[in-house]
Amino acid sequence: MAFTASLGWAALLLAASVSLCWARSDAPRGVAQGFVFDPKATCEPRCAHAGVCIRNNTCLCATGYEGDSCQYANCYPKCKNGGVCLRPGKCRCPPGFGGRYCHKVTCDGGCWNGGECNAVNGVAKCICPFSWTGSKCQEAICPQGCRNGGLCVAPGICSCPEGWLGGACHVAECTVPCMNGGKCISPDKCRCRPPYLGLRCEERKRRH
Ligand SMILES: *[C@@H]1O[C@H](CO)[C@@H](O)[C@H](O)[C@H]1NC(C)=O
Repeated sequence: MAFTASLGWAALLLAASVSLCWARSDAPRGVAQGFVFDPKATCEPRCAHAGVCIRNNTCLCATGYEGDSCQYANCYPKCKNGGVCLRPGKCRCPPGFGGRYCHKVTCDGGCWNGGECNAVNGVAKCICPFSWTGSKCQEAICPQGCRNGGLCVAPGICSCPEGWLGGACHVAECTVPCMNGGKCISPDKCRCRPPYLGLRCEERKRRH
């Protein structure tokens, strides 16, 4: 960078908001000081991110950077929830957080069925509406339970395997009804009342 160019540039920065950083100097940090530019000044380590070395070990940082050698990007507002400032104004957010300053809670994959993403003890979590559960509120709750291999597919609604009926898949289905007071106890299986027997309780047991 040409000397005149850097001087003009530094002066421009000074006119705006000045961020002077003194490395290994007795000057208090963050306090406005008389601006003296020493063209022979050396800064070790070198001023990073287009910062200008204005005095020995004193960098004038470009907007968006701070630190003794302008090595740190700054983000305002600061990155929240453990986010790291990558570039000026650009935060890298930890899992579960998003938004420009990591101020928004984000639930990986979102929350389904009207669930709301919230931070619970610093961890993003879906808060599910009544009758839904699971990490994404993807699972319906069937308070009656789904028996005999039935699946809860919507709140209170079971999808039943073949041969089972009823709100909880608790009613067996016998395609041919059980006769003589027999009871259908599982798909196509009758429990017969004595003295009847047979697949459909159609036979009467012979007396001896
Ligand atoms: C800056 O440092 C150089 C070399 O380290 C030294 O020669 C020079 O005198 C210093 N300048 C000031 C103003 O202290």
